[in-house]
Amino acid sequence: MSLSFMSLRGFSEFCQFLQAETGITLEQSKHYLVSSRLNKLMAEQQLDSLIVLLDRMKSPHMNDLKQAVIEVMTTNETQWFRDHHPLKAFADVIIPSLIKSGHHSIRIWSAACSSGQEAYSTSMVIEEHRDMYRHLHLHNPSIQIVATDLSHQILQKARAGIYDKTEILRGLNEQRKKNFFTFNDGSWELSQKIKNRVQFRQHNLLSSFSNLGQFDVIFCRNVLIYFSAEIKSDILNRMAKQLKPDGYLILGSSETPSNYTDQFKMEKINGTVVYRPALFS
Ligand SMILES: C[S@@+](CC[C@H](N)C(=O)[O-])C[C@H]1O[C@@H](n2cnc3c(N)ncnc32)[C@H](O)[C@@H]1O
Repeated sequence: MSLSFMSLRGFSEFCQFLQAETGITLEQSKHYLVSSRLNKLMAEQQLDSLIVLLDRMKSPHMNDLKQAVIEVMTTNETQWFRDHHPLKAFADVIIPSLIKSGHHSIRIWSAACSSGQEAYSTSMVIEEHRDMYRHLHLHNPSIQIVATDLSHQILQKARAGIYDKTEILRGLNEQRKKNFFTFNDGSWELSQKIKNRVQFRQHNLLSSFSNLGQFDVIFCRNVLIYFSAEIKSDILNRMAKQLKPDGYLILGSSETPSNYTDQFKMEKINGTVVYRPALFS
């Protein structure tokens, strides 16, 4: 699909569709993004305008097409140990403090987990600190990570835990590669003990969180940036309800809840900004 097939009306209706389905909010300047992401799919479907695509997706039999459009419009950019310091604060301070305050079973949510690097990096730091946590507590605390994303395709990849050279190079040091992966047929496969701690589930952040349960720590990183102020506010207010009274919310380095909700207050852990329930004292 060339840009000339994207009428103003087509682009505007496509933006409304995408926002209603995913929360992703596109600015007027994103014509090229839509064009480049949809090009292949439009050619395969032999469609020449966004209006025709939108019409076709309205049919109840066209759920696969709708999902395929959503898949190409999501940005799955991620890396291992993204920004480093949040996971350091998590492993050195947050988990020990939860254990010391008597939590036997700790639940972590990686919301919008992409291909699994965030959840698996979390599982790796837990593994690395196992002895330290065991010393803090009579028993090994049970730590479970629930990782969710909208995209079925990316979750399939996450569940497999197999990464190519480019993906492995993004943020993983040699030691961790050696400790937690096996090289097989040109790819690196994550060890079962790191995978076992993570449960992947398909979930849209626009839908209810009540089936997910309560969490001690929520990582919601580098996804709110794609949403409008109204959607950010809705998601953050609902996330506040899923966080335990002494829990922690960890956002991406360019994201903040201020201006969108008064349910959180900021706390700094060795320079890392985290958010706690506003009523926590
Ligand atoms: C840029 S990645 C961030 C991955 C990871 N959190 C990180 O910081 O590296 C954004 C992810 O958000 C997911 N996403 C976008 N809209 C979503 C929604 N409404 N519900 C759930 N996931 C969504 C995308 O599929 C994508 O995998």
